[in-house]
Amino acid sequence: MQSLSPILPALRMLVSQEQVSLLKFKAENSDKADISLAPSENIIDDAQNKINEFQNRTNQLPQSISIEGAGFWEIAQPAPQGRLAGKIAIVTGGAQGFGGGIVDYLMQEGANVVIADLNEEKGKEKAAEVNALYSENEAIFIATNVSDSTSVEQLVAETVKQLGGLDLFISNAGILRAGGLDEMTPETFELMTKVNYSGYFLCAKHASAVMKVQNSYRPNHYTDIIQINSKSGLKGSNKNFTYAGGKFGGIGLTQSFALELMPHRIKVNSICPGNFFDGPLWADPENGLFVQYLKAGKVPGAKTIDDVKAYYEGQVPAGRGCTPLDVMRAIYYVVEQEYETGQAIPVTGGQEMLK
Ligand SMILES: NC(=O)c1ccc[n+]([C@@H]2O[C@H](COP(=O)([O-])OP(=O)(O)OC[C@H]3O[C@@H](n4cnc5c(N)ncnc54)[C@H](O)[C@@H]3O)[C@@H](O)[C@H]2O)c1
Repeated sequence: MQSLSPILPALRMLVSQEQVSLLKFKAENSDKADISLAPSENIIDDAQNKINEFQNRTNQLPQSISIEGAGFWEIAQPAPQGRLAGKIAIVTGGAQGFGGGIVDYLMQEGANVVIADLNEEKGKEKAAEVNALYSENEAIFIATNVSDSTSVEQLVAETVKQLGGLDLFISNAGILRAGGLDEMTPETFELMTKVNYSGYFLCAKHASAVMKVQNSYRPNHYTDIIQINSKSGLKGSNKNFTYAGGKFGGIGLTQSFALELMPHRIKVNSICPGNFFDGPLWADPENGLFVQYLKAGKVPGAKTIDDVKAYYEGQVPAGRGCTPLDVMRAIYYVVEQEYETGQAIPVTGGQEMLK
């Protein structure tokens, strides 16, 4: 059987009217559908002829497609409401933290969302939590390691098989192990670089392949690759160079991918949040940074976690930490703005300003 990754996104565009449809995978067996196809080199031409013939004969749009030996898909109309209605999105690291919050807002705004995370338990919990709230769109969990090319390729292939294509890839998964030159081991440096820097390359590589196919069949269909970067991608971070270096590098990738992909109407941008003090990285009662910094005496005079938090909040002109909603507002801007790409957008409450 041919790979479905270039076929389904092309079919998705061919069966869409004004709004782009979804191809929802329903069964492994290729039962009789409105459009029944057999694998061949000319499958897309064959599909186009059959769609035209079906519409001429019935005066209706086809409701289903089957491909012999591959499966049966329902042609579904997008959710009726929402700023991102009908979009197919992947969020890496979507099980918790910023990624979890982004999943909540994407679902609220009508997108279909794939939660791609190493953590199966939390990822499945997150998918169940949002699926209980919405009926017009769905969330799917796919176990993924962003630092492994095969895993990311399978993530994109499975997304395409389940939903028909890909419109928004949010490269959010990231890890932080702080340490100065005396403490940082080559192994930790390598691990963080593989997840935070190389992982973004792998995500952009496999996501853009599908997005290019869609654009070649529908030239006005814009798609987005968004990297959740950090304020540490804009300014060096003391005893945290592995993280900052990977994030700086991410902005170099963003600018370069943007130049390569804009001809395909794929926009590529980084969003650079400030510290998410209420998220697990900072607030986890056992391993969070507040507890670690209190124990290490990093904040002079601090006696409680609240003292440490107040110290860090005091460094933000807006007087508080960054939230998933703050990040989401930047995502809306990037997705809705067709006339911009290759940017690194700070969302830091004024803590970091562009030069
Ligand atoms: N928390 C902050 O203060 C802050 C500030 C600025 C930027 N960021 C960035 O935001 C992003 C999310 O951070 P967070 O604080 O929400 O993190 P988090 O630790 O709360 O969540 C990260 C998620 O990524 C998953 N993950 C880790 N490695 C993975 C891998 N190899 N493949 C797939 N999934 C993996 C984890 O299982 C987890 O669910 C990161 O890129 C981080 O650098 C965070």
